[in-house]
Amino acid sequence: MNKLEFSDNFLWGGAVSANQCEGAYLKDGKKLNVSDVSKGLLNPPKMKWDGSKWQPDIENEVILNHDGVDFYHHYKEDLAFMAEMGFTAFRTSISWARIFPNGDESEPNEEGLQFYDNLFDEMIKLGIEPVVTLSHYETPLHLLIEYGGWLNRKMIDFWLNYVTVVFSRYKGKVKYWLTFNEINNLFKIPFAAGGVLDIQPKRTEIVNQDLTKADLYQAAHYIAVANARTVEKIREVDSKSQIGAMLSLSSLVTYPKTCDPKDVMAAMKFQHQQMLFLDLFCKGFYPGYVKREWKESGFTPIIEDGDMDLIRNYTVDFIAFSYYKSCVIKDGEVMRTDTGGAYGANNEYITTYSPEPWRWPVDPIGLRYLCNFLNDHYNLPLFIVENGIGLKESLDKNSVIEDDFRQKYVEEHLKQIKEAIADGCEVMGYLYWGPIDIISAGTGVIDKRYGFIYVDMDNDGKGTFKRYKKHHSFEWYKKVIQSNGKNI
Ligand code: BG6
Repeated sequence: MNKLEFSDNFLWGGAVSANQCEGAYLKDGKKLNVSDVSKGLLNPPKMKWDGSKWQPDIENEVILNHDGVDFYHHYKEDLAFMAEMGFTAFRTSISWARIFPNGDESEPNEEGLQFYDNLFDEMIKLGIEPVVTLSHYETPLHLLIEYGGWLNRKMIDFWLNYVTVVFSRYKGKVKYWLTFNEINNLFKIPFAAGGVLDIQPKRTEIVNQDLTKADLYQAAHYIAVANARTVEKIREVDSKSQIGAMLSLSSLVTYPKTCDPKDVMAAMKFQHQQMLFLDLFCKGFYPGYVKREWKESGFTPIIEDGDMDLIRNYTVDFIAFSYYKSCVIKDGEVMRTDTGGAYGANNEYITTYSPEPWRWPVDPIGLRYLCNFLNDHYNLPLFIVENGIGLKESLDKNSVIEDDFRQKYVEEHLKQIKEAIADGCEVMGYLYWGPIDIISAGTGVIDKRYGFIYVDMDNDGKGTFKRYKKHHSFEWYKKVIQSNGKNI
C-alpha cells in the first residue's frame, strides 16, 4: 500500500552551503576556492592571466561570500533557531579548502577538521541530523590554476584523499552524504560547478565558452569515476551511512510549448541534458543519446580500462535534488539558464510569479511531476534538498518582515510532495533552501533572501549581522514540522 502521509522518519529542515554562509574565507588555514573569486557564479570569475598562469584578481572587489553571513562564528546561534523550528536535518557542505587548502597536500588542515567536528557535534546535540555535501561549488582554486581542475585525471586522487579523510573523521556523526552539488551544472557554469579551467587559454580573461563540449565531457567522465570511487570508499569506511547524487533538476520539468511533436522532442532532448549524471551515478552507464552526440561531434572522452566497471558497480543510494521552477521549450528556441533552472517560452497556465526582479514562475505541481519522473526512471529514494524562494525584503520600523509569499510557496510545494508520496514515490525528506538569509549563488548578493531568518546586512557587506525571525514563515514552518506535515 502506498503511504498517504509523510513517513514518521521524514527529514524536515533546511539547506545551505559553506561558501554562501560561513565567511571566514581565509581563516584558520583555509585558502581560496572557486566561489571566493566569483561575484555571482553566473558572472565570469575574477581571474587574470599573469603571462604564465591564472591568478585571482579580487583585491579591489567586494565579494560577499568572503564574510558570508559569518556562520563560521554564529553557527551555534543559527542552529538554535533551526532547533526551535524543530529541524530534524540540516544540510551544509564541507568547504574542501578548509580541509585541504590547496587541494593537493597529503596531510589535512586540523583546524578545518575541528571546525566541522564542532559544527556536527552541535547539530547532533540539538537532535539535528547532518546532511553533508562534499563539494558545493567549492573546489580549491589552486587545483584549477595548477592542474586545470577536473579536466585532469589527477583530480580523482586529490578528491579521494579528501573524502577518505572526512569519511574517517566524521564516521558515526554524518549518516547522509552528497557527492557534488548540482553536478549537471558543469555544462552551464563550468568554472564553479565543474571546477574546470583552461590552463593554456587563448585569451587573458576567462570566458567559460572557450572550453569545448569535448573538454566538458572529459571532466564529466573523471567526475563520474570520482563519484563511483567515493561510493566505494564510504561503503568501506562507514557502511551505515548513505550517499546520494545531488542534481539541479528544475530543468527536468521542461514542458513542450505545444503538442507539436517537434516541441515534445525538444523538451525530451532538454531533459536528456539533465539526465547524464543521473544515468551515470544511478544506473552506471552512458546513455545512447550521449554516445550519439560524441559520434556526431567526432570526440570520445578518454575512458580507461576499469572505469566503466567502477561506475556500474558503485551507484548511489538515493537521489538528492533541487527544484525551484519549471520551464517551457519551443523547438529551435535557445534556453537561457540560471542557478534555479531554465528560461524558455512563457507558460500561460502559470499565474503566480515571485515579485520583481527575479520573477520566478511558481509551479508546485512540477515537483510532483519531477518526483514521479525520477521514481519511474531510477526507482531510488528521493531527497528534496533544495526548494525555496528568494525575495527582496527589509525590516519595517518594528523590525518585522511579513513573508506570507514564502509561506504559501512552501505550503503548495509540500502539498505536491504529499501527492507524490501517495503516488508511490519514496521521499526521504524536505530541506528548504536556505532557512537563514545567505549570499545568493547566482547573483552574489544578499538581497535575494530565502530565509525564515533575516540577517541584517546589505549588498556592500555592511550591517550588524543580527538575526531576526521572519514573521510568517518561521512560526508556520515550525508548526508544519511539529505536525509532521499533517496540518498543510
Ligand atoms: C542552487 C544552488 O542552484 O540554487 C544554491 O545549489 C543556490 O547554491 C540556489 O543558492 C539558489 O540560487 P540563487 O542564485 O538564487 O542563490
